[in-house]
Amino acid sequence: MNRPEFDLKAYLLERREKVNNQLDRILSQPAAPPRLADAMRYSVTAGGKRLRPILCIAACDAVGGAADDILAVACALEMIHSYSLIHDDLPAMDDDAIRRGKPTCHVAFDEATAILAGDALLTLAFQTLSGAGAAKPSNAAMWLRVIDVIAEAAGGSGMVGGQLLDMTAEGQPVDLPQLERMQRMKTGALIQASVQAGALMANADSEQIDHLAVYAANVGQAFQIADDVLNVEGDPSRLGKAVGSDAERSKSTYPSLLGLEASKILAREKIDQALNALTIFDNRAEPLRAIARYVIDRRR
Ligand code: IPE
Ligand code: IPE
Ligand code: MG
Ligand code: MG
Repeated sequence: MNRPEFDLKAYLLERREKVNNQLDRILSQPAAPPRLADAMRYSVTAGGKRLRPILCIAACDAVGGAADDILAVACALEMIHSYSLIHDDLPAMDDDAIRRGKPTCHVAFDEATAILAGDALLTLAFQTLSGAGAAKPSNAAMWLRVIDVIAEAAGGSGMVGGQLLDMTAEGQPVDLPQLERMQRMKTGALIQASVQAGALMANADSEQIDHLAVYAANVGQAFQIADDVLNVEGDPSRLGKAVGSDAERSKSTYPSLLGLEASKILAREKIDQALNALTIFDNRAEPLRAIARYVIDRRR
């Protein structure tokens, strides 16, 4: 019997809508001064694929868990990601003017507001996690584990550390192991944490966690390779951000080190490895499988 084809488009749309509605609710609480709240909302609601929250939900689905509060975790991940983009675009970093099809936060507001909007989004992410966890004291150990996993991925040994390596590698000769380490930290870590947090929320066992970690590491690397390739040959109007900027700033990227074709082949191999890691799962992992394929076929 033919298995009905999994409809990724519908899955993404439905999950994205849920995440967006919850983000709207979280960001509409007017506790911050209006200009700061506006800047936070501006960047988070500017668009974005919502890949990290959807990976978190899809990992939870793969393990079969109908976890309450998964949306709180998903939104926290997106707030951390959005903050990282605001700071990544600052003049002191990549100095980009367009993000998610709109002027970047520091262009639409000003640099100080953009820095502070990023700071406040990072803090709000952890407040969202601790608030959801505090409402479920019987699950305190699980929540602490989820918060720890996300904090480690977002901080100096993960995303922030990777961003430093990315900045110091500008214009420097970098070899493949160094590039891979930078990628694992700056983009891989949060993608890995998104999958792991979703699995933890669904009470995954250690075998499932291990396989999902291999999946996420490979998806994370393929995702960054695709991001680098799109910076060379993507369409800026579909991407919602500039192309050619990596070469202009002498960024160390997969295409700059390996060339375009070898980069695409490597990304495909990584996705094959990601899919192999999912063989222990049944069809509840179809969303994760479809997302893996999408990561390298995407145009934005
Ligand atoms: C872009 O991330 C920056 C990287 C980490 C490479 P996304 O491609 O997920 O950006 P949005 O969220 O869709 O805007
Ligand atoms: C962004 O990486 C990574 C983080 C924000 C953590 P890039 O600088 O390569 O991503 P884009 O191309 O600006 O989206
Ligand atoms: Mg950057
Ligand atoms: Mg950038």
